[in-house]
Amino acid sequence: MIIMIQIENISKSFNNHLVLNELSLTVNQGETLVIIGKSGSGKSILLKLIIGLLRPETGNISIEGNDIVKAGFRDLQEIRRHFGFVFQASALFDSMTVAENINLMLRKRLKWPVQKISERTDECLRFVGLQGLGKKRPSELSGGMKKRVGIARAIASYPHYILFDEPTTGLDPETADNINQLVLKLKNELNVTSIVVTHDMKSAFTIADRISLLHNGKIVVNGKPADILKSEHSEIRKFIYGYSLLK
Ligand SMILES: Nc1ncnc2c1ncn2[C@@H]1O[C@H](COP(=O)(O)OP(=O)(O)O)[C@@H](O)[C@H]1O
Ligand SMILES: [Mg+2]
Repeated sequence: MIIMIQIENISKSFNNHLVLNELSLTVNQGETLVIIGKSGSGKSILLKLIIGLLRPETGNISIEGNDIVKAGFRDLQEIRRHFGFVFQASALFDSMTVAENINLMLRKRLKWPVQKISERTDECLRFVGLQGLGKKRPSELSGGMKKRVGIARAIASYPHYILFDEPTTGLDPETADNINQLVLKLKNELNVTSIVVTHDMKSAFTIADRISLLHNGKIVVNGKPADILKSEHSEIRKFIYGYSLLK
């Protein structure tokens, strides 16, 4: 196993409230790691720390050997190029078409030639099952379709990593499952390394190679889905109980 992301003893607080408390975690090449934890446990903060949008007060984060915590602006930009980010709210620009949203980075940051941009945009639309909808506006799409556009945008520049912040939260079960299937397709066809944070246990068990529980600022349980099902940890039991009630 090749370690792609190594997080060691990071702490982060806001207004004297310690959100992450010497948290450690590794992410291996090609895996889908699902981080579960209740609302406010620090899942989104953890993702922001990984891409250097926030800095921890203590600890180290390395991405393929590059130190994120000490990196300057330019190095951070270079490292971030390898990340696709699927935001919790789809975060699409309503003033742009779907296609323009997807290829924003290719146009503005990477400055690809027009033809290449157009081909890649169509490829990404097809990948997420939205072929032919590039000219629509995000406001004309359903919640699930907007999520798909967000995923198409995240994969457009061939990232090595995709970070998902609650990709299924707020979606109906069928739409949520479509998104789960899309996350699996990303793993199988694009060979990306993904971190998904969620409190949706059905999603977690559908897509995860490994599940980690974030609780009281640390990763307190970590294992394959089958091991997580057997875990006696009270917080895990609560998640699984809630999930079994829904089945
Ligand atoms: N920019 C911020 N300023 C102050 N507190 C914050 C900020 N961002 C997050 N927090 C606090 O950090 C905690 C963890 O937030 P977050 O990572 O968003 O939780 P989760 O994504 O697990 O629901 C929460 O208590 C939240 O209020
Ligand atoms: Mg969050």
